[in-house]
Amino acid sequence: MPDQLIVCQSCGFTADEEKRDGETGGAHLMKHLQALYEQWPRRDELALETTGCLCICEQPCAIAYVGTGKPTYLFTDLDPTTCAADLLTAAELYLDSKDGMVPRFQLPDDLQSHRTARIPPAS
Ligand code: FES
Repeated sequence: MPDQLIVCQSCGFTADEEKRDGETGGAHLMKHLQALYEQWPRRDELALETTGCLCICEQPCAIAYVGTGKPTYLFTDLDPTTCAADLLTAAELYLDSKDGMVPRFQLPDDLQSHRTARIPPAS
């Protein structure tokens, strides 16, 4: 099973702005991600998925990286208008790491402060 980048499609653009032009921040982010993903050479290794909620609704937008035998990473307070390319760059680091460990300093600069949690895999 490929690793996954899971986007909360219900998140707002910010904590105070749920929708713009009828679209949630999460849906907006997913649209940007899908456009980049179509040209992304590593599509076979990473599935782009959505979920209804990642239970950190007060810190939109939220996404998670999930992989078999790898820690799950939660990122929050993302700007859905600007972060899509950086999320795919971070996804490459996650794919390239056999155990899924990615040091914060290796992340794109604009993502570093948005990593909220690392949850170890089941053992
Ligand atoms: S609405 Fe996005 S985490 Fe709950």
